[in-house]
Amino acid sequence: MTDADKFLYGDRSAINNPLAQADWSSKKLVWVPSEKLGFEAGSVKEEHGDECVVELTDSGKKVKVNKDDIQKMNPPKFNKVEDMAELTCLNEASVLHNLKDRYYSGLIYTYSGLFCVVVNPYKYLPIYTEDIVNMYKGKKRHEMPPHIYAITDTAYRSMMQDREDQSILCTGESGAGKTENTKKVIQYLAHVASSFKSKKDQVMTPGFLCSYRIFVLKLLSNVLISLLFHLLSRAVQCCHM
Ligand SMILES: Nc1ncnc2c1ncn2[C@@H]1O[C@H](COP(=O)(O)OP(=O)(O)OP(=O)(O)O)[C@@H](O)[C@H]1O
Ligand SMILES: [Mg+2]
Repeated sequence: MTDADKFLYGDRSAINNPLAQADWSSKKLVWVPSEKLGFEAGSVKEEHGDECVVELTDSGKKVKVNKDDIQKMNPPKFNKVEDMAELTCLNEASVLHNLKDRYYSGLIYTYSGLFCVVVNPYKYLPIYTEDIVNMYKGKKRHEMPPHIYAITDTAYRSMMQDREDQSILCTGESGAGKTENTKKVIQYLAHVASSFKSKKDQVMTPGFLCSYRIFVLKLLSNVLISLLFHLLSRAVQCCHM
């Protein structure tokens, strides 16, 4: 496993662990709300009407919880799943747990259906090199681990095939990584677009060349606009200090 593989594929060897599977089936594992941790794992011990007694896995403490407040835990084969749309129990606790579990293993990108959720690593990861760009070029989304490059490649291929504008929306709170990921989108597009141009057998009709140029211009103007907004918002922040 290369250094980059660790941050793309992670270690999912535990997913087929028969012990974990047996543990899950015998213990009725669930998530219960926790003030400190968001949700805590536990095992249902008793059920009385609307309430049940859950033994928390980490502390061994028994707590009484309303049945409506507990959320089902997924079987271990879904641990660190790449696309959360695959989860059998699709609930808030399982989604948060999966994102956290992946993040702690160095996996910052996770799909949720069409969306790609990114958790800011706040450190350099070796997953943005030219080799990685080449790995994602022209690949189908499910063939590769989740990455902003896979999202960008899909948009690029759709633009080329359908000759239609495509958009990638990067959203999140301040510091989430929108600008960093936008830079990766541009890096990827610059790379694939330049290799596309160099292909001799590619037919470039005038109409297509025109929309291609418009695309590059739009991209540049969007980058300039966001840069301007960034500088303005930083200037406003400085004025308030
Ligand atoms: N994928 C990443 N790898 C490494 N560091 C990252 C990554 N994404 C974000 N960071 C770090 O987090 C910082 C904040 O990210 P970024 O500037 O992209 O946030 P933002 O969502 O654009 O915030 P704002 O809304 O304030 O503009 C970056 O300066 C960088 O240090
Ligand atoms: Mg930003």
